[in-house]
Amino acid sequence: MRKLILLTLMSCFLVQGKASNLYNDEDSLMQWFSDAKLGVFIHWGIYSTGKTSESWAFHNKQISHQGYMAQINEFTAQKYNPEQWVDLIKISGARYAVITSKHHDGVALWNTKMNKLSIPKASPAKRDVLSPFVNELHKADLKVGLYYSLIDWSYPDYPGFLNDSSRYKIQDNPKRWNSFNKFCHGQISELLTQYNPDLMWFDGDWEHSAEEWQADKIQQMIKKNNPKTIINGRLKGFGDYDTPEQNIPVSRPNLKNWELCMTTNESWGYYIGDKNYKTPYEIISIFAECISMGGNLLLDIGPRADGTIPEEQVFLLFEMGQWNKKHEEAIFGTISGLPLGHFYGPTTLSKDSCILYLFLQGNQRGNIIIKGLNNIISKIEVLGNGQQLEHKVVGKISWSHVPGLVYIDIPEGVQDKYMTVIKVVLDKPVSLYNGKGGFD
Ligand code: GLC
Repeated sequence: MRKLILLTLMSCFLVQGKASNLYNDEDSLMQWFSDAKLGVFIHWGIYSTGKTSESWAFHNKQISHQGYMAQINEFTAQKYNPEQWVDLIKISGARYAVITSKHHDGVALWNTKMNKLSIPKASPAKRDVLSPFVNELHKADLKVGLYYSLIDWSYPDYPGFLNDSSRYKIQDNPKRWNSFNKFCHGQISELLTQYNPDLMWFDGDWEHSAEEWQADKIQQMIKKNNPKTIINGRLKGFGDYDTPEQNIPVSRPNLKNWELCMTTNESWGYYIGDKNYKTPYEIISIFAECISMGGNLLLDIGPRADGTIPEEQVFLLFEMGQWNKKHEEAIFGTISGLPLGHFYGPTTLSKDSCILYLFLQGNQRGNIIIKGLNNIISKIEVLGNGQQLEHKVVGKISWSHVPGLVYIDIPEGVQDKYMTVIKVVLDKPVSLYNGKGGFD
């Protein structure tokens, strides 16, 4: 028996050695991102008065451009406390944040020298509100992501404006477009040199082609400034990872790395009338779905124009944080779990694939089943609770290579209020059978 345990331990150890080679892209571009799992997205701009949606309100003609822009007079940032923002992000368990340095409405949060449409120059806040936040993120050792909208519907040389009208066509006036590009690339360059972000998060690439945006030049500029800065997938094919939005993927997105960006209610920015918040369980289960398929969740909040964060959003981040803390080892630094068909629910694996984590709905009790598991299970435990669980292998025929079904009984009293995580320690890296039974 002791020999068996020793062998089991050794095999995991050896694989760990190998795995650390396998995963020795630790220094590689995407490593921090794929380990990070959770990011907090922040939409903050003149729309944070709560009266309109971000930028789209005037583009879709729910309000005049002038009426929309007048909100800038209410952007006071009076109670803005970037240290508190970052504390909350830290509490949530997120490892990075992405903030809207400029949305499609063209209002920059930093003191851009490229034009005058910025919070420091044109709002009562009268100061750069981006820099203090970035500084706090650095202090807290969180990665810095800057959202930047390529679209700028307020810039006089940008062709697009309202949904049914544009200022000009690029073919008719390439010079005017070049002058916009100069402005846009100039702002990106400011962001790069002033903030050296870990992540550039573009938006709005759908309005023009890669050639028109000169996406290759933008990419080169970023990588020249810092080869380690990663780029989201909205730069017309020049990004590093996929960015599904709001809609939860059922199958894995195309690129190896991906991130679902999602609102806590139905609005990106603070919107007074929107009380349709997701519950902590809904957000946590969506998060589990993402990490199970090798993705991240970028969860959005929308602070108010005075800098306070709505209580509902604070509550959600807090609850997430409690759950993340309890289940940390099943989340951060893990890899995607079992392919579909082996377990009814999300799963993750330790990097050496020797530990399998099963995510169950909080109120689930009774038997859960793992199908097609070739491994011997050395230990099962309820994560964050420590209770050891028994298992039974059903339907294993001694002369067949087809594994039996693993039944694990989940007793009363071990459930988490949101999602319970079961830690299954395997004898060696996970090995799966996915045949058709019988002699196959
Ligand atoms: C969309 C919207 C925008 C929002 C973004 C977040 O692309 O244009 O309003 O900021 O999604 O991903």
